[in-house]
Amino acid sequence: MGIKVKVENVTKIFGRNPKSILPKIKKGTSKETILAETGHAVGVNNVSFEVNKGEIFVIMGLSGSGKSTLIRCLNLLNKPTEGKIFIDGENIIDYDNKQLKEFRQKKVAMVFQHFGLFTHRTVLNNVVYGLEIRGIPEEERYEIARKTLASVGLEGWEDKYPNQLSGGMQQRVGLARALANDPDILLMDEPFSALDPLIKREMQQELLDIQSRLKKTIIFITHDINEAFKLGERVAIMKDGIIEQIDTPDEILAAPKNEYIKNFVRDIDRSKILQAKNIMFKPSALVSIKDGLKIAIKEMEQSGISSIFVVDTDRKLLGLITIDDALKALKENHKLKDILIHDYFTTGPETYIQELIPMATESKYPIAVMDEENRLLGIIVRVSVLSNLV
Ligand SMILES: Nc1ncnc2c1ncn2[C@@H]1O[C@H](COP(=O)(O)OP(=O)(O)O)[C@@H](O)[C@H]1O
Ligand SMILES: [Mg+2]
Repeated sequence: MGIKVKVENVTKIFGRNPKSILPKIKKGTSKETILAETGHAVGVNNVSFEVNKGEIFVIMGLSGSGKSTLIRCLNLLNKPTEGKIFIDGENIIDYDNKQLKEFRQKKVAMVFQHFGLFTHRTVLNNVVYGLEIRGIPEEERYEIARKTLASVGLEGWEDKYPNQLSGGMQQRVGLARALANDPDILLMDEPFSALDPLIKREMQQELLDIQSRLKKTIIFITHDINEAFKLGERVAIMKDGIIEQIDTPDEILAAPKNEYIKNFVRDIDRSKILQAKNIMFKPSALVSIKDGLKIAIKEMEQSGISSIFVVDTDRKLLGLITIDDALKALKENHKLKDILIHDYFTTGPETYIQELIPMATESKYPIAVMDEENRLLGIIVRVSVLSNLV
């Protein structure tokens, strides 16, 4: 895996004499007091984190919490007042102009909330721009630009101008422009915040698809906790320039570090309208008690699953067996009914996801969704609970 980005104790203060403010910050003087007394704005306060190669790392926080200030430190659009930023082991703050130029042209690319496209250039020429700057020969840069546009679903739109495109499509151009240089690192500052909810979801999915193909290192900023949890392998939650918690969505849900974060997590819960029936699916395999052990084992092996629900002829749920128990039972001549276990969670179809979260995080087995007659309607696996928190 390897660490791609390592941010060490980065602080960014805005004002006439930023360095003079450092001692105050270290003493713990609040952002408000510093602003009131000195006129300096604390953008980022002693932030440290690491991003793994190929990871989607999300920075989440309310407006004014310092997200943009922080991400702009990563390509030195903001020079940190203090701290170090290592990319591939090199402290970029030590770069001279030439190194910095090369770093910005080749290693990182940024996608902005308001797209930042050239209105007087066609879609194709917007994407070509960065390649032009890098001095890529004309024919080659047009070829790359066309390919990249096609990869974000914009084939056929090359000769349009940005204002002829919907917001979602304009942001696809923004994404294509960033990807055209084939950077290792994508910096995305609230790229989908200006989009309608439906388009936003579509773009989130698109980004995940692109990421599964390209495996970039992505630092993604949002003020939307649902978006953060959908996209982020790990999420950093910021408040007043400070990172309050860095964990996986799973870990944050299970153990929010303080009241502030609990409130965000509660926000998710309140907003939940999805119910078990919306996210359950038909089990890929199921056995009837009369089928017996051998069939059960075959079903599990064929579907690549380690446990399977057992029903009677009316589809009433009798229990669950695991592949390990089943193989052992077969050797020892036991019957399927002897190895049924019952320590899985069950729920009705109307249960809200928020109530399923604790079950999903605790249980080794899928959750069984049953009707009132105890018939199995569907199953819910842990990952679909967590990935449906949007
Ligand atoms: N160029 C600037 N000059 C002065 N203060 C700034 C500047 N940029 C950001 N800030 C301040 O830094 C803090 C964080 O802002 P920002 O990083 O834009 O937050 P976010 O992106 O999370 O909304 C805010 O208090 C903001 O006013
Ligand atoms: Mg911002």
